[in-house]
Amino acid sequence: MSLDAQTPVGDPLPEGPPKDAPIEFSEAQLLAEPEFDEPLIAGGVRCHGGFIDGEYVSPRTLVRMPAIDAWQSRLRLEGPGVVDISREFMPPHYPSLEQAKLLLRAGVQKPITRSLTMISIVEGFGAMIRDVPVPDLRAAIKEDLAGTALSHLTAGLFEAHARDEAGHRDQGGHKQMWEAARDLAFDNPRVPGDVLARLMQGRGRNRRPPLFPTLPEKVEGLIATMANVMVIEIFADDVFSWGEALLGDPEVSAAAEAASRMVSYIRADERPHVEYLRTALSEVRCRTLLTIDGGEIPGREVVDAILAQQLRGIASSRPREQREALHEEIRADIAEMRLSSELMRKFTALDDGWTFPRSEDDPIEIALS
Ligand SMILES: [Fe+2]
Ligand SMILES: [Fe+2]
Repeated sequence: MSLDAQTPVGDPLPEGPPKDAPIEFSEAQLLAEPEFDEPLIAGGVRCHGGFIDGEYVSPRTLVRMPAIDAWQSRLRLEGPGVVDISREFMPPHYPSLEQAKLLLRAGVQKPITRSLTMISIVEGFGAMIRDVPVPDLRAAIKEDLAGTALSHLTAGLFEAHARDEAGHRDQGGHKQMWEAARDLAFDNPRVPGDVLARLMQGRGRNRRPPLFPTLPEKVEGLIATMANVMVIEIFADDVFSWGEALLGDPEVSAAAEAASRMVSYIRADERPHVEYLRTALSEVRCRTLLTIDGGEIPGREVVDAILAQQLRGIASSRPREQREALHEEIRADIAEMRLSSELMRKFTALDDGWTFPRSEDDPIEIALS
């Protein structure tokens, strides 16, 4: 960052929290709520988050967001940067915005209702993050972990994440917010009864063999889970753009403004998820992992290899399989319509044909920011 001519000498640079900002927090602090003027109500359900001076503020961010900023600032001073994923690897949502609009204009609502319902269910699955087995990281990592996101995973970060996705007690979370956005936009559509069953069909098939057999299984497992969730959270941004644009289009949405605003609130809530996961993985990356046979492996080697493996799995084979399955479902939905072959032809013509931009043998570079 450079000082421009307008910046008076001696003024602090607007660069995150001060150097002596606290970096140790209690679970209660990381779950602490901002003081909202009014709560968020979605589809008659009291949801998390709320409004301050008319602006939406994400739940449990009073301390959590400044904490993540402080850990990242420290990481940037000490290490090579914070891991990121290049957006070129991001598979675009299928059906695309134009394809979805084509279907809706033709009165084919089922695939879109199914797609939105699937998104809401997957959001709800996010609660599983609180059940991820976390080993004793102080025994698994050579260097100190004081004042890191890593040492707060089970002290608030995973719990806050789980609550954001699936709701907590009497408050709805992203699951309920996506349902509300869907019901606003399409006026309480009939939800296909087979969404969960279809979603479960493809899950849990590929058990991943360890990349680093000398690491304790739970250590590689934790890194792989965080890498997996981080990639999914980053890629979800495309789903949010799709959702905001589609549900916000008055031509196809019955409550364009309210529905797209709801999606924008969910999108805002995802920021702490992406950022704490990027931070924790980067903290492992600049440390040393201890193996079960008394050896050491640089964290960078482990994180980069696992991240590349997860990224390739999530962005190459999985979208291809999902796209093929969805294409068949949409074909069946369209077949029920009059002039179905013409609609199917137009739908297929809008296919962007996206494929993962690296071949099987190409290395995947991990970006830093
Ligand atoms: Fe979410
Ligand atoms: Fe999330």
